[in-house]
Formats: sequence, structure tokens, C-alpha cells
Amino acid sequence: MKKLILTLALCAAATAADAQMYFGDQKEAADSAFLMLAQTPPMGWNSWNKFGCDVSEKLVKEMADAMVATGMKDAGYEYLVIDDCWQVGRDAEGYIQVDAERFPSGMKALADYVHSKGLKLGVYSCAGSETCQGRPGSRGYQFQDARTYANWGVDYLKYDWCSNEGQNAEAAYKTMSDALKQCGRPIVFSICEWGENEPWKWGKGIGHLWRITPDIRDCYQCLFDWGGVGVLDIVDKMADLYPYAGPGHWNDAEMLEVGNGGMTHDEYVTHFSMWCMLAAPLMSGNDLRNMSKETIDILTNKEVIAVNQDKLGKQGIRFMDMGDHEIWAKPLADGEIAICFLNRADTPWKLDYDWKHQTMYFARDISFRKHVYDVRDLWQHKNIGTTDSNLKAEIPAHGVLMVRLSPKK
Ligand code: GLA
Repeated sequence: MKKLILTLALCAAATAADAQMYFGDQKEAADSAFLMLAQTPPMGWNSWNKFGCDVSEKLVKEMADAMVATGMKDAGYEYLVIDDCWQVGRDAEGYIQVDAERFPSGMKALADYVHSKGLKLGVYSCAGSETCQGRPGSRGYQFQDARTYANWGVDYLKYDWCSNEGQNAEAAYKTMSDALKQCGRPIVFSICEWGENEPWKWGKGIGHLWRITPDIRDCYQCLFDWGGVGVLDIVDKMADLYPYAGPGHWNDAEMLEVGNGGMTHDEYVTHFSMWCMLAAPLMSGNDLRNMSKETIDILTNKEVIAVNQDKLGKQGIRFMDMGDHEIWAKPLADGEIAICFLNRADTPWKLDYDWKHQTMYFARDISFRKHVYDVRDLWQHKNIGTTDSNLKAEIPAHGVLMVRLSPKK
């Protein structure tokens, strides 16, 4: 009898060890699959900036069609993210309920449609008990919600911070991160706690991107007392955060306002150029069905997007700050460098730049080889000389000159 008990105990111990090993292996695989996502900053579209709560399956399908038809998909945009207000309640078993009037075919059918276009679907939820628009949040339902998203075929989750009821931010985001890692589907995790708890210090490995400010407004420079911020305010906040960005973990400068009408053309060019210099996620926030040629030309500028998507994954650095005039540099793969001259002033900047100032880069993490580079203007799409001679240009008020330096062959 003693022998039997011993044998059973040994078997039980072995099974537990096997289970642990199996679970350990699975967990490792899930973790590494998660960590391989978003190796370059995510690109896509999000409903919030333009449509607020006015979301529906019709809208998302039309955006998917427009993303293909306008060349946005071809330029690299991939995710269609439905922000707040798609959810209306939970059923008796706690399953999140989609607004059936606005999404009559359900999320699974919508994900299938989006996937059939070669695109991906994102949804929004919140670490609190309620979303910012008072819809049900995921607090207490994280694992159930993550499994539901996976069953629908969701590829991206933006996770907000309203009604957080004093939770510890890192722990709250880690819970949802664990749930996503175990849900059986690769889902990009976008942390949206507005930079309140310095997510750049703990977000790597938990999420793939983290907001660093309150909500963007469609303006060049503007601070609202309730927290809204403009383009330059975000750029200034991003400036010091470059050490925290890299493949799979990005500082999120907020969704784009390009095409929404609140800024001039030059300001939108600056907005887009700087997001690319900053290796920020590129989530368009306008009506893709209704874009002017100017807006399409900005959002689909492949040379500028290539700077954003560069595989080295470095965030650009403000290495010269001359008040209203700034020079930003972003090291690229294969020894190339993107440079952006940013004119914050209300008057044009008559640039006459001597490239010998390059030596300064050594001081700021950028190794600048001591030889001549070809200089290519990424908005005019043409080569404009080499670093052997001064760069002369007139940069419009609130505008930029963005160039790519390639070692001269
Ligand atoms: C917060 C977020 C926004 C948006 C809204 C939706 O304000 O920061 O980006 O998601 O909630 O309610």
C-alpha cells in the first residue's frame, strides 16, 4: 500500500513538473511572439480625432476601402482602429456587447472584411471600470475580453485610463498585457495613460507603444487648461524621451491631425515630418474617404515614411536648439541620417548651413562618418547637393526642410 502511495505521489509530481514545463514553454513562446510585434512604428487609422463616438461598421468598411483606394495601404498603413463607443454593455456572463445598431454584422464579420482587404482591425477599451465616454471598461474582465478580441480576429488594442479608480498604472497595464499574451492571437498593445505615470520607464515588454501626453488638438501650438496639446507641445515632450524608443516599444506622440483642417499646409507637413523623425506611430485621424490631393501627398510621402519606418528604430534627437530654429537628426540603418530643420518662427528661416557643424553629432549618440554625403530633399523628392557645400534654402514659417543624407559613393 505504501508502495502504491509513493508511486502515485511520484506520478503526480512528474505530471505537475511536465505541466509546469509545458506551460513555461508556452508562456515563453507567447511572450516572444508578443515582443516581435511592431518592430517598426505601427501605421494605420483611428476613428477618434475626426468621428468621436460616431463609429459604425459602415464607417470602418468605407475607411478600409479608402485606405486601399487612396494608396495609404500601399504606403504602409495597416491598422483600422475603432476607438471609444463601439461597446454598449455586458451580458449575464460578462461578455462585452457590441452596439448592434451600429455594428449589425458583429465584430467578427467586420474583422473578416478588413482582413480580406489585407488590413488589420483594432479596438479600444479601458483599464478602468468605464471608458472615457462612459462605456464598459475592462477592469475585472481583462482575460475574458482578450479572449473575445482574439475570437473576433482583432489585431490591435488601444487601452485607455479613464475611471481607473486609483489603480497602479504599471500593474493595470501588465494585467491586460498578460491577458493578450495568453489569448492565442498576436495583438499589438497600445498603452494610453497620457504619460501620467511615465510609461516610457515601464512600458517596454508590457505594450508596444505608449502615449506621452494628453489628447492632441488640431493646432500647431496650443495648450488647453483641461489638457489638450498641439503639435509643438508634443514635439517638446518627445524630445527627451528618445532613449526609450526602439523596435517593439515606441513613444506614442498621438494620432495624426493631418487633413482635419485646423492647421496650414506647412504646419501639417511639419506635423507629419516630425512624427516621422520621432519614430512615432503613424495613426491617421482624418476622413480617408474625403482627402484633398495635398493631404494624400503628405500622408503617403514614401520617402518621409521610410525615415519613420527605418529598421534601426531610433527616435530622432534635437541636437541644435537655436530658439525658434531647431535641427533634428535621426540615425538610419546603413550609415544614413535624416535631418530636419524645423522653423518654429512666424517668419521664414533663410538657411545657410555649413555641414562642418556635423562634428557636434558625436556628442549626441549619432555617429556621423567623416566623409561626404549626398543630400536629398524628402518633400521635393530631389537631390540638392552634397555636404561639401553649404545648404541654402528658405524654410517657410512653421515649416521644415527634411533631408536624407546618404554616404556619397
Ligand atoms: C481619451 C483618449 C483619446 C480617446 C478618448 C475616447 O481621451 O486619450 O485618445 O481614446 O479617450 O473617449
